[in-house]
Amino acid sequence: MANVIVVGSQWGDEGKGKIVDWLSERADVIVRYQGGHNAGHTLVIDGVSYKLALLPSGLVRGKLSVIGNGVVVDPHHFVTEVEKLRAQGVEVTPEVLRIAENAPLILSLHRELDAIREDGSAGLKIGTTKRGIGPAYEDKVGRRAIRVIDLAEPESLRPKIERLLTHHNALRRGMGLAEISVDSIHNELTEVADKILPYVDQVWKILDDKRKAGARILFEGAQGALLDNDHGTYPFVTSSNTVAGQAAAGSGLGPTAIGYVLGITKAYTTRVGEGPFPCELDDAIGEHLSTVGREVGVNTGRSRRCGWFDAVLVKQTVRTSGITGIALTKLDVLDGLDEIKVCVAYELDGKRIDYLPASMDAQARVKPIYETLEGWKDTTAGARSWNELPAQAVKYVRYIEELIGTPVSMLSTSPERDDTILVTDPFQD
Ligand code: GDP
Ligand code: IMO
Ligand code: MG
Repeated sequence: MANVIVVGSQWGDEGKGKIVDWLSERADVIVRYQGGHNAGHTLVIDGVSYKLALLPSGLVRGKLSVIGNGVVVDPHHFVTEVEKLRAQGVEVTPEVLRIAENAPLILSLHRELDAIREDGSAGLKIGTTKRGIGPAYEDKVGRRAIRVIDLAEPESLRPKIERLLTHHNALRRGMGLAEISVDSIHNELTEVADKILPYVDQVWKILDDKRKAGARILFEGAQGALLDNDHGTYPFVTSSNTVAGQAAAGSGLGPTAIGYVLGITKAYTTRVGEGPFPCELDDAIGEHLSTVGREVGVNTGRSRRCGWFDAVLVKQTVRTSGITGIALTKLDVLDGLDEIKVCVAYELDGKRIDYLPASMDAQARVKPIYETLEGWKDTTAGARSWNELPAQAVKYVRYIEELIGTPVSMLSTSPERDDTILVTDPFQD
């Protein structure tokens, strides 16, 4: 079976965009299946950067790109991102881009609520992207969301908005906020409806038809498995399931159609926002990773926290996502370091453990146990074949494979599309 899921194996920003773009050459359809425009996926092609948030990365190669039902869609952002991509010379038409009719919408009230919760003194600060992702998923699960298909049925839109506002205005009264009128949401939706409706389709059907015709389908995960609402560092997570299992539910193509799960894995660790990070470095090495790795958020411009590679976490996400092989990225960022540490286990209250405990308090208490490897002085940056890698770099890659119990099937050595080494083709495996 030739269909491949790309999933982040850490806390996001592993380089999924680059790898999806590279694999898109071999794929026929590219599918986003969870998250929304909280994602920031970067592609660099001949020095030109493309930054995608909601739209699948396959669009840049002109491949059929699909936004599945598991994604939360901000229709105004959709229009803006389509225009931005067109301004960069990418053709975006309903021929190449389809949106699931059953995807829920992100509205202005979701963005507002997200921002208020984050800025307020009460409650837990998560460090969200303030894109309205969490509140929109809450309404989906609460069965009161406005969905993409509702834009095609103007006569029944008003009662749906009234039902949604019964909930939100009660919440807003309790928070001391002004109530929202049905008219304001109605206007917000009707002014954008015509711009999004040409793209709307039955995604589950397109994907099944394509599958039967022998097309290769590539699923583009957003975020990372440690931000998963069930399996991540709860409550410091996003509001969707980010593990590979979500590709089926979030697209409507059953799980038996999946052949390979590729875990995109940074050669060190980063995290944006609040929450536990056992290997976080607040020293010159952390500074090196941040500066050389240019670790700044694509959407929010926030600095990413940096630390050594955490094999405990990746070994765990390999299991929760059923990862077949990994694409190891940003190895070049480690070039020139005298020594490199890898977290091989944790210490929790005097005991050695080899997994991340579920309790929020225990997650904050675990201490990394490191093994130290010799670094390399030669550069890996821009390497396009295995034999260009310094011996110590190869040792590092082999050590990671051994610790996580999974092979490296791709290696990335710079942001550029073609600075990529293929070891095993996920579509051929
Ligand atoms: P994503 O969210 O997983 O798609 O990753 P982001 O695009 O948010 O962040 C990854 C960053 O690293 C981007 O700026 C990429 O251009 C860059 N990048 C990807 N692979 C490599 C690599 O192998 N080496 C270096 N130095 N940068 C890379
Ligand atoms: P990509 O696809 C890194 C983080 C936020 C915050 C938490 C919840 O580029 O890897 P949300 O806005 O989703 O409610 O925020 O999740 N987060 C990401 N971190 N990469 C991302 O996406 C992220 N999307 C959300 O920083 O900690
Ligand atoms: Mg990103």
